Amino acid sequence: MAIVKWPATAGASFSDRADILPAMKTAESIRPSESLKHVRYEIRGRLARRAHELERQGYEIVSLNIGNPRAFGLRTPETMRLAMIENLAEAEGYCHQKGIFPAREAVVMQQQARGVTGVTAEEVFIGNGVSELIDLVLRALLNDGDEVLVPSPDYPLWTAAVTLNRGRAVHYPCRPENGFVPDPQEVARLMTPRTRALVVINPNNPTGAVYPRHVLEALAQLAQARGLVVFSDEIYDQMTYDGAEFVPMATLVHDTLCATLSGLSKVYRACGYRVGWVAFSGRTHAAGDYLNALELLASLRLCSNVMAQWAVQTALGGHQSIQELVSPGGRLHESRAAILEAAATSRYLRLAPPGGAMYAFIGVDPQALPDFDDQQFTLDLLEQKHVLVAPGVSFNVSYRNHFRITNLPDAVTLKDVFGRIEELLGAYAALPRAAGRAPDNVVSVSSRVK
Ligand SMILES: Cc1ncc(COP(=O)(O)O)c(C=O)c1O
Repeated sequence: MAIVKWPATAGASFSDRADILPAMKTAESIRPSESLKHVRYEIRGRLARRAHELERQGYEIVSLNIGNPRAFGLRTPETMRLAMIENLAEAEGYCHQKGIFPAREAVVMQQQARGVTGVTAEEVFIGNGVSELIDLVLRALLNDGDEVLVPSPDYPLWTAAVTLNRGRAVHYPCRPENGFVPDPQEVARLMTPRTRALVVINPNNPTGAVYPRHVLEALAQLAQARGLVVFSDEIYDQMTYDGAEFVPMATLVHDTLCATLSGLSKVYRACGYRVGWVAFSGRTHAAGDYLNALELLASLRLCSNVMAQWAVQTALGGHQSIQELVSPGGRLHESRAAILEAAATSRYLRLAPPGGAMYAFIGVDPQALPDFDDQQFTLDLLEQKHVLVAPGVSFNVSYRNHFRITNLPDAVTLKDVFGRIEELLGAYAALPRAAGRAPDNVVSVSSRVK
């Protein structure tokens, strides 16, 4: 049998590859589902593909667009690897659709230790990352046109998954001038009879905001008053800096259904394991049909990756090595400090200090660069300075003067990156014409490498 080799241009989008698959070309092109029309995930989109292309041409690109700890040398705790290896033989078959019992029980114990009551292993589902669960929990809930309150900026999978599951994402603003913390009164004004759920991402991606207790309490009250399901994405729960307090939403929500989502990807630096969980608390007794529907969806995909589930109990118990990384002197603490320093000394950048997670959502001063355009800037930064960051527009915001950067690299790398950013912004500022547009006097890499 002939071996079919994946073309050298693997990684290009399918539309980019039409030329290299002539045999598959037909007169009628195959159209994708209409349901994808408004679905976007720019973080891995065109810009990332261009970065990949440049790398293949030999350029060294500093990729700061994705929160992948392993790409920056941050390893999964050894004990988790050992737990997985030790149980390999137990991982050969399908497991229960909700996940293996020791993993679900470990999540229960973590919730109990945080003061969340009423969760048993029955109310815990393990999935292939939080990503899969975001889709499943929404798919089990939504009907055509149901509205879900989603933060803006958001982690864009939330908006995409609402859209894909026939709902309507209604974005509540988390404004830069308010440290990216939402105003519960504004959230309340966006509620309609069609609102079914409220999504909270705390600590937040992309802003790093850690919401104060009183804000979470007000959001909990709103949800309870309207019987909304609260989806609390807490995947960065133990990543806080300089004393910022993380308050688990489930400790505040009692009178409606609360779904807490978290996983191994960030705090435990194991995003390749693809393990996440959702724990339901609050009015679970009134949610039997919903939880059955979710279990049906979980059954349809049989189960999630069994091997890595064996690492959950080890991860959640005992010493939490993430604390060393986020404390003064720790890698993530110091790299975040480098970002704060760079923003504070920049002539163009503005930053509401992130209290948690592993990102900074940085603004460009509209006074200094009134015509700044985040997409043009990120493209120029890639082509001219070989740095890849995500434009703010990727995170469902209406303004165009922000970009997201991760603090996963070491402080020295970040200092160098911010030097390059300042150079590019300085070049914009020196232009007589609208800043943020591609400067004519700079030869772009794309034209040089042809
Ligand atoms: C807020 C948030 N939720 C969910 C995810 C997805 O995580 P997982 O790797 O568990 O699918 C991410 C990944 O970056 C995230 O930032």
